[in-house]
Amino acid sequence: MNQVDALPDVPEPVELEETQENKNLLNTVFRSMKRSRDMFFHHRDEYPEFPDIDEHYRQVKMKTEYKNIVALAAETKRRKEEEALNLPKNEPVIAIGEPTNDSGAQLSIAGPSSSGSDVGTKKSVAVVASASKGPQDNTVRAMLPSRAPMVVKPKWHAPWKLYRVLSGHTGWVRSVDVEPGNEWMVSGGADRIIKIWDVATGKLRLSLTGHISAVRAVKVSPRHPFIFSAGEDKQVKCWDLETNKVVRHYHGHLSAVQDLAIHPTLDILVTCARDSTARVWDMRTKAQIHCLGGHSSTVAAVQCQSINPQVITSSHDSTIRLWDLVAGRSVVTLTNHKKAVRALTLHPTLRMFGSASPDNIKQWKCPDGEFYQNLSGHNAVINSLVCNEDGVLVSGADNGTMQFWDWNSGFCFDKQTTKVQPGSIDSEAGIYSMCFDQSGTRLITAEADKTIKMYKEDLSATEETHPVMWRPDVLRKKMY
Ligand SMILES: *[C@@H]1O[C@H](CO)[C@@H](O)[C@H](O)[C@H]1NC(C)=O
Ligand SMILES: *[C@@H]1O[C@H](CO)[C@@H](O)[C@H](O)[C@H]1NC(C)=O
Repeated sequence: MNQVDALPDVPEPVELEETQENKNLLNTVFRSMKRSRDMFFHHRDEYPEFPDIDEHYRQVKMKTEYKNIVALAAETKRRKEEEALNLPKNEPVIAIGEPTNDSGAQLSIAGPSSSGSDVGTKKSVAVVASASKGPQDNTVRAMLPSRAPMVVKPKWHAPWKLYRVLSGHTGWVRSVDVEPGNEWMVSGGADRIIKIWDVATGKLRLSLTGHISAVRAVKVSPRHPFIFSAGEDKQVKCWDLETNKVVRHYHGHLSAVQDLAIHPTLDILVTCARDSTARVWDMRTKAQIHCLGGHSSTVAAVQCQSINPQVITSSHDSTIRLWDLVAGRSVVTLTNHKKAVRALTLHPTLRMFGSASPDNIKQWKCPDGEFYQNLSGHNAVINSLVCNEDGVLVSGADNGTMQFWDWNSGFCFDKQTTKVQPGSIDSEAGIYSMCFDQSGTRLITAEADKTIKMYKEDLSATEETHPVMWRPDVLRKKMY
């Protein structure tokens, strides 16, 4: 049985009587046929080259049913070709360094009222290539998306309040750190003593002696039962927590050691000093792996992380350097600060870091040190900068002032001045070092009044009792 046989019988054509009614009917049928034909064949004129009816049907179908897909295919092809040619987009090519305008405008909250090109300039990438890169590296293309800048509304954070004061040191407290288990913390002071305290109760557990001048840095290893300490006596020591004795010395610094950092995954320690160097040490063999030279003045702060740049230093020469840990050389120098940069912090989760100088607090992106934004307003000698996972950034200064910032928006949500503890004639206000406990819910400060202070979030505070007093200032500035 073939297909033709399967078709239903075609009825014999019926002869219609030539009545007026039938004429009208035929007329209607004819018009309807014509309309259908026009509907389906209206592209005929567009395809005079296809007299063949099958091809015509195909073209009609393509045009009426697949025209979107056909257009998409063409567009994709066009884009591919454009990419192949690598045509430049309309992004501005910007010279390295921040714009020189002094408006103090914050990058993240440049508003829609500003003209496009102005915004483009503001979003410049503040990277200063090191001398080792070619001169052609003096310009970079803006890597930021071309969408309109967003006004970043600050996240609400509870205010922090003092809840405990620990006394015991007989000189300025210069450094604090909390051990990975969050049970005890360690402090180092100008009295040359290292003290270990219970985090929960604030009780003194132990005092360690060994340094012969002020202890400037103490850190607990996250992976070993060791404490590392460094001091103005140029010494760097490793203490064994089982015997509470010094088990290693790292010799090499020529003057007072200012800060130290422990690599999170490698058995490496980095210290920095007034001799303008940072030194990388093999924790176990005590060997100096690298002497990182390049700064022209005291290296005040050092940070170490497992992603690049693995070592970041900041100096009184007002620069920040990013180091290639393997090669032992500086790969980027950030020259945006105008004054000594005494404090650095890594954001615990975002691949960013912050730096503090009396001119500004600045935020940067890893790995290249791309400028993110200025946090303006803490115009004091900032010795310490810390950040928790909630995005609370705290800056602590020489004259006892502390400012609390929301990391993303750069909004300062609280300002406090430490209360000097009575009892000593030469007591003074000053924050030298800070850290968060492992949970990020307690802030611990090392102070000039010889105390350690502990702060926690005021849990009774709400967004209603402590509203965010935030206005997009930059928008206003630009409008008027
Ligand atoms: C950031 O602050 C510096 C001074 O520290 C200033 O020169 C620069 O213009 C500021 N950048 C922005 C984008 O506001
Ligand atoms: C802290 O120091 C800065 C800069 O010297 C000054 O502007 C500010 O008023 C000082 N604050 C206090 C509380 O002393």
